[in-house]
Amino acid sequence: MTRTVYVNGDWLPETEARISIFDRGFLMADAVYEVTSVLGGRLVDFDGHVRRLWRSLGELEIARPMDEAALLAMHRELVARNGIEEGMVYLQVTRGNPGDRSFLYPGPETKPGVVAFTQNVPNLADAPAAQAGFRVITIPDLRWARRDIKTVQLLYPSMGKMAAKKAGVDDAWFVEDGFVTEGTSNNAWIVVGNRVITRGLSEEILHGITRAAVIRFAREAQFEVEERAFSVTEAQAADEAFATAASIFVMPVVEIDGVKLGDGRPGPVVRRLREIYIEEMRRAAI
Ligand code: PDD
Repeated sequence: MTRTVYVNGDWLPETEARISIFDRGFLMADAVYEVTSVLGGRLVDFDGHVRRLWRSLGELEIARPMDEAALLAMHRELVARNGIEEGMVYLQVTRGNPGDRSFLYPGPETKPGVVAFTQNVPNLADAPAAQAGFRVITIPDLRWARRDIKTVQLLYPSMGKMAAKKAGVDDAWFVEDGFVTEGTSNNAWIVVGNRVITRGLSEEILHGITRAAVIRFAREAQFEVEERAFSVTEAQAADEAFATAASIFVMPVVEIDGVKLGDGRPGPVVRRLREIYIEEMRRAAI
């Protein structure tokens, strides 16, 4: 089926969508993005994604292309036009098209560009991968040092995903100075007894919207939450591990660099947190 996509105010069949070769997103990866999941035809944690979008744009001095109400209306129309029940909306805001290539940011006459499209994932909540869990390898974190800004410079994460595929596993966790930063496109967690542990917020990781919600739900469910770095060795010795992102919700991680966690199957804590997250988010989606 041909999707209807959104490009700078126009609704177009995906095959007719065009952006300029001079767009800064294309030439310089000068663009930021958000991925919002859809459950029951409604948007999950939309507010959180908009707040992070404003922050990313602010850090890069890119003007806000529209206000929150317009963004919400656009997302809803995109979901409706494409008949999405479960899946995702990808939104990209670029610094725009100054009409030529230059390292300097263009002036205010260059307006930011906005592109959005849907991805239909009928079994997002009921993902088969969540039954088996992810197996991950670890690789050095060679990304730039402002990972808190959600830019479209995704080549290294893409290389990480390919390294995982070549190793016959599902994902790669990045490691810096012996400590796990995050997954290629998700935040990394471990479980030790009643404690769930995930790296604290800094410029070293993306401030995951799913991460923030899971911290809240874990506390409500009487788990202790520790926001601190953990090493690969600590992770391999943990009772359980998991990854969080809008695209996978709460995904069990059952093996790290060939070392199985527990019996090598998703444990009770991650199964519980996944269930709570999906239930609560389905209810709160707008
Ligand atoms: N990725 N860390 C990184 C490096 C990410 O790319 C992502 C999200 C996350 C989790 O953030 P959130 O919970 O807000 O989705 C953490 C999106 C899903 C992607 O690139 O497809």
